[in-house]
Amino acid sequence: MKRTVTLRVNGEKPERSVIRAAAEIIRSGGLVAFPTETVYGLGADALNPEAVRRIYAAKGRPLDNPLIVHIADRRDVYRLADDVPSAAEDLMDFWPGPLTLVLRASGIVPRETTGGLDTVAVRMPNHEVALALIRESGVPIAAPSANLAGRPSPTTAMHVKQDLDGRIDMILDAGPTAIGVESTVLDLTSKPPQVLRPGGLPFEELRRIIHDVRLHPSAVAERELRIAVAASPGMKHKHYSPKAQLILVEGETSALISKIQELVSRYNRHGKKVGVLATDETQRHYQADVIKSLGSRGDTSFMAKNLFRLLREFDDEGVDVIIAEGVPLRHLGLAVMNRLRKASGFNIVRAD
Ligand code: TXA
Ligand code: MG
Repeated sequence: MKRTVTLRVNGEKPERSVIRAAAEIIRSGGLVAFPTETVYGLGADALNPEAVRRIYAAKGRPLDNPLIVHIADRRDVYRLADDVPSAAEDLMDFWPGPLTLVLRASGIVPRETTGGLDTVAVRMPNHEVALALIRESGVPIAAPSANLAGRPSPTTAMHVKQDLDGRIDMILDAGPTAIGVESTVLDLTSKPPQVLRPGGLPFEELRRIIHDVRLHPSAVAERELRIAVAASPGMKHKHYSPKAQLILVEGETSALISKIQELVSRYNRHGKKVGVLATDETQRHYQADVIKSLGSRGDTSFMAKNLFRLLREFDDEGVDVIIAEGVPLRHLGLAVMNRLRKASGFNIVRAD
């Protein structure tokens, strides 16, 4: 057991003293959880194999699931990657922001960081605390989401504490994150480029810059794909799961409502405590033990922001089963549905 220190920090103008203390830990090979615009990350010196191994140990993360390397200066891409195609340079206009680029790794990136792959994932986060920490540390920072492996990603410092207290050195608390789902991961080593994980940067926006971009089949899968050599090892691991069993119901709104209510009654009859993850437009139609709304079906950004927090809240209320409504697949709805499908273990019911 370590003593985990939590420090409040100003999200717009981070206090120098706080950033110095955190950077000292990073430089000496320790672990610091910090806010980004997407979710909280668990950071270590990306170029120090021992420090990176501590990330895997603290999270209980499988060693073959590579980490994203966070930078604060575009020039670092050319140190971390061997080949930077011109598309990458165009896409860096989205930085700082929720876009991760997968490129050929250079020799300075340890195998621990890339999960044994010959590619490296790089992004520049859009958060003053993250950027200040990277600059003050003087090294790129490897950071997965700061949750125990398989749990919903943390959007507050409290979520990080729930999962990692006693396992890491420090948590920087700058309040809830703005976007609420992780970055979009784009593989530029495949032709055409492929989105391995839909995330905070909408696919529609990517397509305006690179016209031939594709969605990897597993990014939009409605059932589990057998991935022999996973393009992104993260695809094959269990993900985003609350403790309760999650069932995802997809279909037209009116069919959704009756199907979900039918399932609630069925589980209630079996003595289960049931939660419904609804939307503003539908929530008044349900009768269940716990009902929570993601937000309006028309506002996918707002739904994304709430998703992981609500999954954790259902656990706090001790529900046995969560029945979740499918949401529209456009903009951030694509990322929300990707997380819900995985969280359900592809236990998806079609309502029609
Ligand atoms: O928004 C985010 O991306 C957050 C914040 C902290 O930056 N980070 C995050 O990291 O979500 P993590 O480790 O939870 O997810 C990283 C994803 C995984 O699905 C992993 O498999 C994939 O990126 N990935 C990392 N390096 C890769 C590589 N070289 N090739 C393919 N996929 C890679
Ligand atoms: Mg994660």
